[in-house]
Amino acid sequence: MPIHRRQTMQFKRTTIALLALATAAFAQAQGAWPAKPVTLVVPFAAGGPTDVVARTLAASMTKSLNQTVVVENKLGAGGNVAAAYVAKAPNDGYTFFIHHNGMATSTALYRKLQYDALKDFEFVSQAVEVPMTLLARKDFPASNFNELVAYIKANKEKINLATAGLGAVSQLCGMMFQRAIGVQLTEVPFQGTGPAMNALLGGQVDVMCDQTTQTVPQIKGGTVKLYGVTTKSRVKVLPQAPTLHEQGLKDFEVVVWHGVYAPKGTPKAIVDRMNQAVRTALKDPDVVKRMDDLGAEIVDDRTNTPEALQAHLKAEIDKWGPVIRAGGKFAD
Ligand code: MLT
Repeated sequence: MPIHRRQTMQFKRTTIALLALATAAFAQAQGAWPAKPVTLVVPFAAGGPTDVVARTLAASMTKSLNQTVVVENKLGAGGNVAAAYVAKAPNDGYTFFIHHNGMATSTALYRKLQYDALKDFEFVSQAVEVPMTLLARKDFPASNFNELVAYIKANKEKINLATAGLGAVSQLCGMMFQRAIGVQLTEVPFQGTGPAMNALLGGQVDVMCDQTTQTVPQIKGGTVKLYGVTTKSRVKVLPQAPTLHEQGLKDFEVVVWHGVYAPKGTPKAIVDRMNQAVRTALKDPDVVKRMDDLGAEIVDDRTNTPEALQAHLKAEIDKWGPVIRAGGKFAD
């Protein structure tokens, strides 16, 4: 082929490639978000309760955004490794974060945090509220709540409590339970209650608080012992389970709420589109059924706004700070 023809073809190919790039950049600038997969960071292990909520939402949002929503589990420090990671991630609309009460409680639990929960994020939406359950391994020698408390008090040196680390709701609930019955157990931290549940099933740990989004199948399958739920009223999917409050732990209440965040400075138009995607997912019949089956309650239309999430986080920081400081358990 003559040189000038080869050069012309090369020129055409380069021009086409540049045009494609320019079109993609223009489309992105014009709001053609998402132009590539969106990442939803989960701060605990795969297979655990936060992961279950994240993957259920991600599957639905993948349909409505017409783009894959990829769940990425970033583990460590009771959810704080992931929070710090997202706080510093590019604010280009391709990284989002789902976290629960830990976003509020970590502010009181950690002396030094690599992020500020109220200042370093954009608020997208709340998603679901989840009850917790108080469980023990299947062969634990207590057949009801009163026996559980009596047995723990009599054997506190040899009983251990599984948690997902300081900042995790399993730890918060476990701490409140220990305080309510006046014992201090050996805590065994995992990088999520997914692996903690495996240890409970394997009999390596004794007792655990965990969310119904993971525990309902185990409870129904009879693979763990259930002693109560942490909500003020009974949970529809576990009608046989009394609340801890009604069994004598007056006003005991832990409800796990999940919110979706983005790094600070993510364009408002994208935050609003993501909010819409979360809201659409929360009305998706597949999501509604799965959450219902697992005892999770989908938040209403007043609660699924960015403003409501921001206000709720602030209120939770104010609520849990004094409770946690009274517990005196801190980490650097
Ligand atoms: C998890 O997803 O593993 C749990 O939400 C951790 C926790 O107990 O907070």
